[in-house]
Amino acid sequence: MAADPSIAVQLAAHAARLRSLHLRTLLRDETRAPRLRRRLGPLLLDLTRQKLDVAALDALGALAEARGWRAARDAMFRGEAINTSERRAALHTALRAGGSRLPSPAPAAVRAEVAATLERMAHIADAVETGETAALGLPETVTDVVHVGIGGSDLGPRLAVEALAPYHTGRVRCHFLPNVDGDATSTLMRRLDPRRTLVLLVSKSFGTQETLLNGRALRAWLVAAHDGDAEAAARHFIAVSANVEAAVAFGVPRNHVLPMWDWVGGRYSLWSAVGLVIALAVGMPRFRELLEGAAHMDDHFREAPWQDNLPVLLALAGIWNRNALGYPSFAVIAYADRLRELYAHLQQVEMESLGKRVRADGGALADATVPVLWGGVGSNVQHAFFQALHQGTDVVPVDFVGVVRPDHALADNHDALLANLLAQAAALALGKTREEALAEASAGDAAAREALAVQRTFPGDRPSSVILLDALTPHSLGMLLALYEHKVFVQGCLWGVNAFDQWGVELGKTIASAILPALDGDAEAGAAFDPSTRALIEAIQARREAR
Ligand code: F6P
Repeated sequence: MAADPSIAVQLAAHAARLRSLHLRTLLRDETRAPRLRRRLGPLLLDLTRQKLDVAALDALGALAEARGWRAARDAMFRGEAINTSERRAALHTALRAGGSRLPSPAPAAVRAEVAATLERMAHIADAVETGETAALGLPETVTDVVHVGIGGSDLGPRLAVEALAPYHTGRVRCHFLPNVDGDATSTLMRRLDPRRTLVLLVSKSFGTQETLLNGRALRAWLVAAHDGDAEAAARHFIAVSANVEAAVAFGVPRNHVLPMWDWVGGRYSLWSAVGLVIALAVGMPRFRELLEGAAHMDDHFREAPWQDNLPVLLALAGIWNRNALGYPSFAVIAYADRLRELYAHLQQVEMESLGKRVRADGGALADATVPVLWGGVGSNVQHAFFQALHQGTDVVPVDFVGVVRPDHALADNHDALLANLLAQAAALALGKTREEALAEASAGDAAAREALAVQRTFPGDRPSSVILLDALTPHSLGMLLALYEHKVFVQGCLWGVNAFDQWGVELGKTIASAILPALDGDAEAGAAFDPSTRALIEAIQARREAR
């Protein structure tokens, strides 16, 4: 069977046509906007500043249909083993199916386990919120929660806790320890009262070096605070893991271990007990609203035809920019301080899922896959890297994310924030011509004015999307995060890659474990490495000894 031509080849004619059409011209085409602007409840997706016209959009939609996105989507929701390299389902949608309007096709056993775990989370969250911590075996009320976990066991929960700050119950302060760097761990141990601290050890595998090292440091701190009583110290831990036995072997009481499952990928896990810290911060009813928001997007993703389907449209815009126009990176800029971790969470969701160079079936890829995702918070980053976005030699498409109604009374600030978001999207698209720049220049002779106009010309024609939430609530946050999850799913489907494994992170982990004994002075272990690594190990050892 002849291989499908690449996406780039299939879209080449449209790309050639649109490359020669400036966004200024495209924006005047009135047939585009109704196709490129879509609302779902409190979330508006505006793709009108993408370099797309109706014909190109239809070609993209036809491609998605031909590559079977609907059948693939249904297989995911049913719990088929679509993560083929690990022979696992990808059932994160089952974690929020309770908030869905549609009947869940996920296996009944999965739904029952999810419901039971939510009940256990509610029990813990309620105990902490009401101060009745005796139910957890703790004699004193909890003032601080330390969430230990990295990657998917950190980014989503941390983002949600920060994003939902106005909804915090105020009963506990939440701290996050992702990094193995002992700086943050020792600072927290100095600052917190161990007797009033609850430690969440969150690791799907319960084998992650960073998490276990921080866990051991906190365990020693807690044991010391309990005069060597390891059992009393152990009651300050709650573990969340798919490897329950490893958590118990670590010393967490069995009834303090909440389950995870192999059918939830780490980067899709904030909806599970991995998100316990969110429930502790905002209370269980608000956590359920977050799940309901995601379920709202799930239902839409399951029902809407591609032309109206927000995740599909966002995915197609990304495919267009990557494969038809050839842009190697894109930026997510949230004009909301509380979404400052959004781009970091999406880096994992997108780049760990789609950073693949072979197809799921082992074949070579015909197209480039995930662009590098980076970003930050507006308006701060306007004063950092936006110069390059406007006048640099590379075009970087941007997703602008904003919030219509703030949770504070400083209306002037908020208007300025939104005005900046809108202005940047417009400036990137429209730019400023040499003639416009020349008309502005008043000082100096003609040559000086011309020279300045050249510097002050903006090429424009730089694409962006705008996502506006009516307000940043648990529900709208759930929708936003599920929107990107499903966008990634559709792109995985179009590229033919498995969006649910992550073999690319393993090699470095193995080498780090092998380097550890060499750093500790085991010469034989050190000899096994390449000359560059050996020289650096020796340099570190030499400088340590020089102290
Ligand atoms: O970095 C790779 C990774 O496996 C991620 O996929 C995962 O989110 C993270 O490590 C943490 O893994 P765990 O939850 O098993 O500690």
